Amino acid sequence: MRLFRNISEFKTARFETSVTVGVCPTMGNLHQGHLSLIESSYPNNDLTVMTIFVNPLQFGEGEDFKSYPRTLEVDLEKIQKLENRLKEKYPNKEIWVLAPKESIFPPGFSTKVIIDENQDILCGIDRPGHFDGVTTVVHKIFDLVKPDRGYFGKKDYQQLWLIQKMVTDLDMPIEIIGQNIARDPDGLAMSSRNNYLSIEEREKALILPKTLNQIAQQVENSSLNDEILQNIETLKKEYGFIYLDIRNQKTLKPALVSDKNLIVLGGLRVGKTRIIDNREINI
Ligand code: PAF
Repeated sequence: MRLFRNISEFKTARFETSVTVGVCPTMGNLHQGHLSLIESSYPNNDLTVMTIFVNPLQFGEGEDFKSYPRTLEVDLEKIQKLENRLKEKYPNKEIWVLAPKESIFPPGFSTKVIIDENQDILCGIDRPGHFDGVTTVVHKIFDLVKPDRGYFGKKDYQQLWLIQKMVTDLDMPIEIIGQNIARDPDGLAMSSRNNYLSIEEREKALILPKTLNQIAQQVENSSLNDEILQNIETLKKEYGFIYLDIRNQKTLKPALVSDKNLIVLGGLRVGKTRIIDNREINI
């Protein structure tokens, strides 16, 4: 594993390599979900670049930018351990970690990448501007790393959708790969923000995956119908979800009864912690 703490050093090294590259953008505080991005990229690219950068542009006022867990040393240990294992099977592959000390954005940076579709629904409801920050930093990371493939977790399904849209709209020659959600044994989707939950809060948080499973089962058993749509509205109110919604997997438009590939998505605030999750449904 090669660590870069300086962007211009990274750029020089990248300029000198001409191999296939997979990028795994993260904000650090790595869990199995992040590590599975490396596991996906490693066999399929000569070089896997994991970026670790807590992006100020995607945090709104009053959000947790300052307190977001920064755990670089432990993160690097986890990556090294994983690489030791992967190297046994793929001895010629490499991992680079770009964890810049300085900001990715030069002083006075004022350019934004804004996707004009599907960004004010779901997570956009209570996080206005969040996705502009995400697409801007991911565009910047793509520009720095020049990857052939980009790996993103499906837990942030709307983020994944918007990044795919950006790449398509701007003809960026990058294949976007969505990685299945990593879950803890109790069913909660892994997230760096789960560390904020107390034991009682964690128990309460389980209502999110349970509700999504329940809805998915209903749809799988009897297809989407008005009764299920009504039930979703009732559950949303009953548990106070920020959003609980069933949509078309490909377009993220509200689901039609005739749709076969659906996704049910939910967002919930538990104490001060905001968690999200989703379940794909194919009928
Ligand atoms: O999913 C994340 O961790 C972030 O939104 C990302 C894609 C690394 C951009 O900062």
